[in-house]
Amino acid sequence: TGYVTLDRGYKNTGATKSAITFLDGEQGILQYRGYSIEDLAAKASFLEVAYLLIYGELPTQEQFATFETSIRRHTLVNEDMRKIFDGFPVNAHPMGVLSSLVSAMSAFYPDLEGSKEDTTDQHIIRLLAKMPTIATWSYKRGLGHPMNYPKNNLDYIPNFLNMMFSLPVEDYKVDPVVAEALNVLLILHADHEQNCSTSTVRLVGSSQANIYSSISAGISALWGPLHGGANQEVIEMLEDIKADGGDVSKYVDMAKNAKTTGFRLFGFGHRVYKNFDPRARIIKKAADDVLSKLGVNDPVLEIAKGLEEAALHDDYFVSRKLYPNVDFYSGIIYRALGIPTNMFTVMFAIGRLPGWIAQWKEMREQKEPIGRPRQIYTGATLREFVPIEKR
Ligand code: CMC
Repeated sequence: TGYVTLDRGYKNTGATKSAITFLDGEQGILQYRGYSIEDLAAKASFLEVAYLLIYGELPTQEQFATFETSIRRHTLVNEDMRKIFDGFPVNAHPMGVLSSLVSAMSAFYPDLEGSKEDTTDQHIIRLLAKMPTIATWSYKRGLGHPMNYPKNNLDYIPNFLNMMFSLPVEDYKVDPVVAEALNVLLILHADHEQNCSTSTVRLVGSSQANIYSSISAGISALWGPLHGGANQEVIEMLEDIKADGGDVSKYVDMAKNAKTTGFRLFGFGHRVYKNFDPRARIIKKAADDVLSKLGVNDPVLEIAKGLEEAALHDDYFVSRKLYPNVDFYSGIIYRALGIPTNMFTVMFAIGRLPGWIAQWKEMREQKEPIGRPRQIYTGATLREFVPIEKR
């Protein structure tokens, strides 16, 4: 079978060439198509960044108007998808529902049999337009509230907020502080080169599976607590610390003995960032800003800061270069915006969607071969079959 190099977890294996996202883990640099994450988070809108990632350049006003208008026109989800949705238990985790319904989109929006026309752009628009709508269904149903239809006179983020929070019985106005905070968070999550979920999207897509199935697989990969699911775990951990009297050093000690306790500090450590996570730096500052602007006093923010401080002064974390990652402070902001804990990873998925799409598209355009890692076999050598009655 030839010589195989083993690299468990692909710690040092390049799977592709890519022109989308540049990341320098030593220096804490992250750029989308050459634009720094700091610049984009401060100045761009999420949909502009989506366009940039997917099509390679920032849109002109005209290109943006066309892109945005198409997204507005596709925000409604086929009513028959609701029948699938209604079959889920009321308390189903919104990530399980999201991956299932995105997968179901491949059945609702198939390519026409034998059609030579490239419909990728239409599928891209549908995904960007419909995923926020689907996401809000889980939230509304969990509350027992009526679903809101999208309102196409609203921009992307206000439309999402309106579907989440407006009620037929009272007026709802989108708070610009909330919309701007969400804009920053979504931009910071929009791409991160060959992470677990993106590699999953590319691997599934490399068999020429359709874009909905590929992205549904990415959503499933994101759900895990070592990846996007960490944002939910962080808040739950901070709540546990609070309930336990707020002694952060106890939790730092438990994490230092992760091998025996099985407890890791969620929101800490990163495969690539060994100095700091540039997204975490922006998010930490945003958490302070947003909470003070909204007048929210969340004791969990102080616990998070104390925990960070304690860990950063501990040899275990220093020697292993473990720093807060993007998930450490994001949940505190989501919570201040009124987004419930079980929706945190869904918010990550909405943010990461343009990155998944861009990477899927690049993978197809580069005509990447089917992804197919090798292995080193460690099982039994050849042996003879023994009939069941003789075993
Ligand atoms: N708490 C305690 N110890 C840790 C932690 C942690 N959060 N993270 C890593 N370590 C230790 C680990 O035990 C190992 O120690 P030793 O050298 O003694 O064996 C060392 O640090 C290296 O860790 P690793 O698990 O080999 O590193 P990795 O690159 O395979 O894993 C990671 C990266 C992000 C999965 C890991 O740091 C982790 O589990 N963090 C907690 C979960 C988390 O916050 N995930 C979100 C990641 S960022 C956003 C995203 O991807 O969604």
